[in-house]
Amino acid sequence: MKVLIFKTAQEAVDHSAAAVLEQIRERAETVLGLSTGGTMVPVYEKMRATAAGLSFNKVVTFNLDEYLGLCPGDPGSYHSYMRHHLFDHLDFNPHNLHLPSGTAACATQEAERYEMAIKAAGGLDLAILGLGENGHIGFNEPGVSLGSRTHVQALTDQTRAANARYFGTSEQVPRFAITMGVKTIFDARKLIVLATGAHKAAAVQAMRDGPVRTACPASALQAHSQVTLVLDEAAASLFEARAAYADIQGHKVASGHG
Ligand code: PGA
Repeated sequence: MKVLIFKTAQEAVDHSAAAVLEQIRERAETVLGLSTGGTMVPVYEKMRATAAGLSFNKVVTFNLDEYLGLCPGDPGSYHSYMRHHLFDHLDFNPHNLHLPSGTAACATQEAERYEMAIKAAGGLDLAILGLGENGHIGFNEPGVSLGSRTHVQALTDQTRAANARYFGTSEQVPRFAITMGVKTIFDARKLIVLATGAHKAAAVQAMRDGPVRTACPASALQAHSQVTLVLDEAAASLFEARAAYADIQGHKVASGHG
């Protein structure tokens, strides 16, 4: 796992946004895995601000997850989030933009359909992820199978509390979501995991230094050969190997893979 530690959250965000744009510059038909949440808001803002001259028309996107029960027009839905923060601002082709439907008649069938659609698109070239305080990626909550594919997932109280800010109270946060599975995410050819802030430090430590176990779904990514963990100093504060990332390139230091 490659680890980049930046002094500030903004620098970590800027690096992540630049990496996504670079991927699109290299391959116009890139298939991206995209995330939502507070961490990604400034990433999309930076992408919008620095995308001049780059076309997104051939880019194909698959979001990691969507709440069950919310229609695309619901302001709390991830469909709305993505339109608001990214899709409406750049020249994406709407036919290329995919999120699970939160209102399909059969959620299980929708999850299977979504998994097949990712496969039919050739798989994800690059997925950019946040990290839950409980170690979740997408909505893969602790206890999930590390071999899981896209599925219906019950959300933990901790996740619902963390996302209450978008709904008013945690009671108003949907109880279920459709999420790409850990294995679906793992199958992306490249992964960027962005975590900023001291509240993510314990999850970062469990993901990077802890054993691979279902209690921390993100720890499955330890076995991925092309994953970059992008951190600010606050999120890296409990990270055991941090001392090994001595300040030899300004305040940004990369480890080798492995
Ligand atoms: P956050 O969520 O960016 O809102 O902290 C990240 C996540 O839960 O994956």
